[in-house]
Amino acid sequence: MKKIQHITTVLEYTSIEELDSIYQNLINKAKEATQSSYSPYSNFKVGAAILLENGEIIQGSNQENSAYPSGLCAERVAMFYANSKHPDIPVKCIAIAGYSNDQFLERPLPPCGSCRQVLLETQERHNTPMKVLLYGQNQILEIENIKQLLPLYFDKDMLDE
Ligand code: THU
Repeated sequence: MKKIQHITTVLEYTSIEELDSIYQNLINKAKEATQSSYSPYSNFKVGAAILLENGEIIQGSNQENSAYPSGLCAERVAMFYANSKHPDIPVKCIAIAGYSNDQFLERPLPPCGSCRQVLLETQERHNTPMKVLLYGQNQILEIENIKQLLPLYFDKDMLDE
């Protein structure tokens, strides 16, 4: 038996001003997107903003449904739209923000497991590293490659074995 460790590297910022202006703008777009959330059941508004390699920004927010599992997270709403609008353009970065009880969350909001799987497949599809920015009022986290957030991931290569 041998122990294998998977180490995740995360960069931490305590102020948005520490980031390049392009990423400050992307975070602001994610914050803006929270306001288009349809979340009457959880009252938890999530916004995502995706920066494409051509400079275009795609925004999305969580969309809930009275049949609860039919709803979708902000990250997947934005990513599926980006991929359907521009199937051949790689994604450089996704910024995520959360809003609840009339304010932006203090802590960064990490994407759920299903969203990590979808983001990872987009990265693999374009073979271009995707940066992830998690916004919180007190802390901003940057992950330089979505693979960092999903060790031992399942991907299409498994289907060929
Ligand atoms: N949600 C997202 O949109 N993204 C996440 O990363 C976590 C959760 C949404 C799903 C649901 O509408 C609400 O937040 C509460 O779980």
